[in-house]
Amino acid sequence: MTLANTAAFLRSPRTPFEVGPAEMPAPAADEVVVRVRAVAVNPLDWVVQGTGRMTYRWLTHPAVLGTDVAGEVVAVGSAVTRLAVGDRVVGLATGTDKGRDPRHEGAFQTHTALLERLTTVIPDDLSFEQAAVLPLGVSTAACALFQERHLGLRLPRSAADAGGAVSDAGGPAAREREVVVVWGGSTSVGMNAVQLATAAGYDVVSTASAANAETVKGLGATHVYDYRDPEVVDKLVAVIAGRTVAGAVAIGLGSTEACIRLLARTGGSRLALLSTPVSLAEVADVSTGRPLVPNALPTFARLGLATARSLLAARQAKVVARFVWGSSLRDDDLGEQLWGGIVPRGLADGSLRAVPEALVAGEGLGAIQGAVDRQRAGVSARKLVVLL
Ligand SMILES: NC(=O)c1ccc[n+]([C@@H]2O[C@H](COP(=O)([O-])OP(=O)(O)OC[C@H]3O[C@@H](n4cnc5c(N)ncnc54)[C@H](OP(=O)(O)O)[C@@H]3O)[C@@H](O)[C@H]2O)c1
Repeated sequence: MTLANTAAFLRSPRTPFEVGPAEMPAPAADEVVVRVRAVAVNPLDWVVQGTGRMTYRWLTHPAVLGTDVAGEVVAVGSAVTRLAVGDRVVGLATGTDKGRDPRHEGAFQTHTALLERLTTVIPDDLSFEQAAVLPLGVSTAACALFQERHLGLRLPRSAADAGGAVSDAGGPAAREREVVVVWGGSTSVGMNAVQLATAAGYDVVSTASAANAETVKGLGATHVYDYRDPEVVDKLVAVIAGRTVAGAVAIGLGSTEACIRLLARTGGSRLALLSTPVSLAEVADVSTGRPLVPNALPTFARLGLATARSLLAARQAKVVARFVWGSSLRDDDLGEQLWGGIVPRGLADGSLRAVPEALVAGEGLGAIQGAVDRQRAGVSARKLVVLL
């Protein structure tokens, strides 16, 4: 086995990825090193690549981006207990976060370090390409649903905890169940939120385009309406009808305002925010060669204004609305609870599927830039994956 490492580097902000030799990561005590076999791409990747100086100001270059890793463990740190060399695993790389090392821990390279507490073994019948869709989607959904500062929901319980009654997640009967709203249920984060909230014993109502409504229902949502329908909030309010709303997860353009209106009418008070109120897709395009300043300033000004307006509207509606940071579970108990328990248990008993369906966008590190550009142009209920 050759252990030479190669990475798709972001050598400076707003430049295309460049493939080259990289240092082989050595695992810290609580890490494993993985030979990466498949990576998925996320909106985060083009946001960091294209808006770094305005957003990820702390990032040092060259950096290795990417969060979603599936592959084989090739080395383990001294304190690792759950994982062993040779394991087929999936995990979340958080190297672009403040205070982390964006070369040691980044998906877009053939070998990366991963924290054991954000990594799990995958079932034999789950391919690397399909497993790679999970990490950021499921981690972000879990932060939104389960962290106290967001919805603070109860966790899905294991069969042992629930005395064998997993199907009801130990929760109350259907007519008494609390409702969780997942706006943007066909997004990668949304699909995972629908599954996790359902597994935790909540009734989920959601939005998606008509073409994806059945897919979202198949993950557990009881009702799914088109987010473009002018009456979508009225329809959701009607199906919630008098039940307690545990909170809403807002994903997609326009979701924040819609969820605030919905919560104000249904007595809900907790809102987890996932999306900026103004799209950054255009200004993040590195192929234009246009500098971010001054080109993107009007977009960021609109974004700041729209955010302030939304937060004010939330306060007036007595809704606690906070932005989610999808890798923050690294620093609280949720990381180990999710990756050491909920994910492996859910994959094994079928209550958690690796969704959305993977769409292979290419093979080799040279295919990453094209996949990131394609994700920025938009996907529908699919996750772009590159095989390494
Ligand atoms: N804060 C964090 O830590 C964090 C982490 C991950 C993601 N995010 C953010 O969460 C959002 C979703 O990310 P993702 O990777 O899950 O997205 P994704 O899978 O790329 O989203 C694609 C889906 O978005 C849906 N969509 C498009 N416009 C929508 C709208 N206005 N309302 C509701 N749904 C809409 C489309 O649904 P249809 O095809 O059915 O029309 C499509 O299936 C992005 O804004 C991303 O930046 C934030």
